Amino acid sequence: MKNNVLQGKHIIVGITGGIAAYKSPLLVRLLVKAGAEVTCAVTPHALQFVTKLTLETVSNHPVYSDLFEHDNPHTTEHISLKDWGDAMVVAPATANIISKVANGIADDALSTLLLSFRKPLFICPAMNTQMLESPALKRNMQQLCDDGAFIVQPESGPLACGTSGNGRMAEPETIVDAMISQLSASCDGVALTQDCSSTLTPFSVLITAGPTYEKIDSVRFIGNFSTGKMGFALAEEFAARGCKVHLVAGPTHLSTNNTNIERIDVTSAREMYDAATRLFPSCNAAILSAAVADFRPEHEADHKIKKQSDQDDMTLHLVQNPDILASLGKAKRPDQILVGFALETDNELENAKKKLSKKNLDFIVLNSLHDKGAGFGHDTNKVTIIDRDGNIDEGSLKSKQAVAKDIADKMFSLVKI
Ligand code: CTP
Repeated sequence: MKNNVLQGKHIIVGITGGIAAYKSPLLVRLLVKAGAEVTCAVTPHALQFVTKLTLETVSNHPVYSDLFEHDNPHTTEHISLKDWGDAMVVAPATANIISKVANGIADDALSTLLLSFRKPLFICPAMNTQMLESPALKRNMQQLCDDGAFIVQPESGPLACGTSGNGRMAEPETIVDAMISQLSASCDGVALTQDCSSTLTPFSVLITAGPTYEKIDSVRFIGNFSTGKMGFALAEEFAARGCKVHLVAGPTHLSTNNTNIERIDVTSAREMYDAATRLFPSCNAAILSAAVADFRPEHEADHKIKKQSDQDDMTLHLVQNPDILASLGKAKRPDQILVGFALETDNELENAKKKLSKKNLDFIVLNSLHDKGAGFGHDTNKVTIIDRDGNIDEGSLKSKQAVAKDIADKMFSLVKI
């Protein structure tokens, strides 16, 4: 199911002159493995890093590199190729090609093809941090986004120039995941062969994460042990796939890396409710992983509550918080996907199934509290995914990043393919 969207599709892999071009043959192989037919279009500088022979061997197609090549059966190859391709990915994309495409410059085979291409376009930047952060490059990247291209964000790590920072091309697996996710979400099999660049707005996901704090007085609160790690891993995973992520986060020390993530920090359940209900109508999907306090003190003292010398006990009267997930379930449109988490200690499966139907979810992620290494604060988790068709997928103990990948795969298997 996961790779269906690439099955039989024609993908053009554009390659430009950066050291990350050594990973391009692997990207071609992964696309072919996913069922796509691949043709490479390269700049002369790309051929300094990777040979035509390698690319022709892995793609099983001639490489397009020269506008005026003599043995080229079509004198206007860029025109026939743009009709042949269902989607295009430029990996690596140098600052030069990004700036040329953003400004409509067509002075070689690849840039000419890109200027005429009107179907889904994925750009995978790779360059050193200073270039990536230059005002000119930022402007040009923004222009590409405005024109409907997907940016598969670069990652941080050692760079070819000997420094370390943001600018490494995303790994080929991440690029393929991003393509599958966005193509599944934006175009069905039929639309993919048509001009759908204008409808390709990024898939947007609302994610809630972390605990909520319910204020008792100016120095105390009711909270829980959630750290937000699962929700933040989900945010990074969806952002890496090119999605626009709205991350509504309760109090946590975690930080986010990907510029596709818009973070909204909140403290209480009611603040989380306000943010989530405001954002949900404009999102394609929502995943509520936050550990929301079900109750809050009826009255918040604006000063520190003092104990009396003869006081043996104290009663706090609590009132119920809004159930954010249930509210989104009521407001959900048929084209939206809603995912909840369940934390259960008894009758886990039965209770999770009840929540799935009661809150009108597409699937629910049941957290295990019984397994060592799973749950609050750990870097690993063990979950069972239950969908509304009754499918139950019990996962093994794995990193929260790997669990986030499973959840994203499940989500995109449900988006209209
Ligand atoms: N949730 C929510 N708002 C609340 C309470 C829960 O959005 N006020 C969401 C959580 O983010 C989670 C799901 O509902 O996705 C289930 O949360 P959980 O605590 O397991 O269940 P509750 O619905 O609170 O029910 P109970 O505490 O009785 O098990």
